[in-house]
Amino acid sequence: MGIQEANSAGFVHGGTVMKMCDEAAGIAAVKHSRCRVVTAAIDRMTFMHPVHIGQLLTCRARVNAAWRTSMEVGVRVEAENPRTGEVRHTSTAYLTMVAIDDDGEPIAVPPLAVESDDERRRQREAELRRQNRLNEREQIRAGRTSG
Ligand SMILES: CC(C)(COP(=O)(O)OP(=O)(O)OC[C@H]1O[C@@H](n2cnc3c(N)ncnc32)[C@H](O)[C@@H]1OP(=O)(O)O)[C@@H](O)C(=O)NCCC(=O)NCCS
Repeated sequence: MGIQEANSAGFVHGGTVMKMCDEAAGIAAVKHSRCRVVTAAIDRMTFMHPVHIGQLLTCRARVNAAWRTSMEVGVRVEAENPRTGEVRHTSTAYLTMVAIDDDGEPIAVPPLAVESDDERRRQREAELRRQNRLNEREQIRAGRTSG
């Protein structure tokens, strides 16, 4: 991370990290679907520690779950001090990416092959986040129509 990424406190802008997560998630989703994808939502983004100028940032993205046309991609961000080798987990993000055709219409994605216990856990947790999101949307809609 260079000086151009700094905020007024001298750390890296959260928006810079979000953009990197979005790009990493997009690549993971394209590799799974072999289609163009768009970001439908950033469902969650946590910042556990600040990232300092001079640190090397690594974003690891993986598809946690695939539904009809959408996928949840989880991104883990680690910051490394290149002089000491110390690595810290600084952020986690969950994004919903949707595969689209040439007309920009959602298109079906292949199912995700889930094999290990870790992959099964990630898929289960992604299902929970999706369900919570859909429930929240329903409750908000119901609240608006009844009010
Ligand atoms: C994402 C987009 C393609 C969805 O189009 P749509 O007409 O709502 O399509 P659908 O209702 O058929 O939904 C398609 C999928 O997107 C998911 N989706 C739509 N809106 C969503 C949202 N706000 N959050 C999470 N998922 C969403 C649906 O759950 C569905 O998933 P599924 O097929 O796996 O069940 C459309 O809203 C779009 O193009 N948005 C702009 C994306 C963009 O420009 N991103 C960059 C922002 S700078």
